[in-house]
Amino acid sequence: MAFKVALNFEDGVTRFINCPETDTVADASYRAGINIPLDCRDGACGTCKLFCESGKYDGGSYIEDALTDEEAAQGFALACQMRPRSDLVLNIPVPSSACKTGPVKQTATLEAVNKLSPTTISFSLKLAEPVTFLPGQYVNIEVPGTNQQRAYSFSSAPGAEVASFLIRNIPGGLMSTFIANAQPGVELNFVGPSGSFFLREVKRPLLLLAGGTGLAPLLSMLGHLQAKPPGHKVHLIYGVTNDEDLVETAALDEYAAKIPGFTWEACIANPNGAYPRKGYVTQYILPEHINGGDVDVYLCGPPPMVEAVRKYFADSGVTPASFHYEKFNPSAPVDKAA
Ligand SMILES: Cc1cc2nc3c(=O)[nH]c(=O)nc-3n(C[C@H](O)[C@H](O)[C@H](O)COP(=O)(O)OP(=O)(O)OC[C@H]3O[C@@H](n4cnc5c(N)ncnc54)[C@H](O)[C@@H]3O)c2cc1C
Ligand code: FES
Repeated sequence: MAFKVALNFEDGVTRFINCPETDTVADASYRAGINIPLDCRDGACGTCKLFCESGKYDGGSYIEDALTDEEAAQGFALACQMRPRSDLVLNIPVPSSACKTGPVKQTATLEAVNKLSPTTISFSLKLAEPVTFLPGQYVNIEVPGTNQQRAYSFSSAPGAEVASFLIRNIPGGLMSTFIANAQPGVELNFVGPSGSFFLREVKRPLLLLAGGTGLAPLLSMLGHLQAKPPGHKVHLIYGVTNDEDLVETAALDEYAAKIPGFTWEACIANPNGAYPRKGYVTQYILPEHINGGDVDVYLCGPPPMVEAVRKYFADSGVTPASFHYEKFNPSAPVDKAA
């Protein structure tokens, strides 16, 4: 039996390989053209040490100099020794280029563009084959006719042949303007997936916090949780600036109906808006959502919102069991990957 292994490199690049249960992760990676740094290949030097974010494996045999019992208990393992017993998500502590690999380049066809409101657009890409990513990750999409690319988080769950995105329609924005006027059938190039903002194994209640189109990666996580019910409570607080920014509420209601234990609420910052719940997401975080700190928090949105929520947690004196965030930083002009 072969398992899917996600290799997350230090530079944010993720590559997926198939690894039979009889093979080591190092051997399967090598066959896929990914050279995880190795020296002894015998569990003696520790050069191939990595961290397992999720999944089960047989750690193989090694000496204490290569991997201590304490490290093994924390989730560290040796690529030259470990054999998967389930799908795995592994953090490799070097950049992808050090393993002679990099982000995958792909081409997709624009399938549909939906103007959800004056401020927000969703679009979908039809892929030649189902794209593999971890729920919450993003890709860098080239803006056709330019040498620029922009990062967008998937709003759909992994594994489908059509992938969706949710973007803020920024007046005059390069990609926003392109997408707002694009016709289905146009080809788009992208590289990825990338990013360390992805849903880990659900071991406790989740608190999801979204600002504006920062909802996108959280929708992807919810899509994944619908297919793989979490067994813990999941609560989403979705904050926007104005009424027109509040989108995808029907999709959230559908997830609430289909994912056991999932609830959501929204608020708008504009005090003059029509939506009844006013204010910022932090005003709606209740002790029951924090669960005495035994909670995993996933936060995504524009940088000021992410900073405000981080400060809220720092000041609250409660440290969540884990805290993951993604800032939708405006892109500095970047040349597309060579
Ligand atoms: C990891 C990551 C994931 C991202 N995922 C998403 C996503 O799923 N959905 C999404 O909508 N965006 C996302 N972004 C932001 C996205 O990459 C672009 O920056 C954004 O869409 C603007 O691109 P543009 O080409 O339309 O505008 P640009 O041409 O880049 O910018 C035009 C002008 O608008 C300003 N500007 C850019 N972004 C904003 C903003 N958010 N608010 C106010 N002014 C802005 C710029 O400074 C510039 O002056 C993500 C960013 C990162 C880093
Ligand atoms: S390469 Fe030496 S322990 Fe794996």
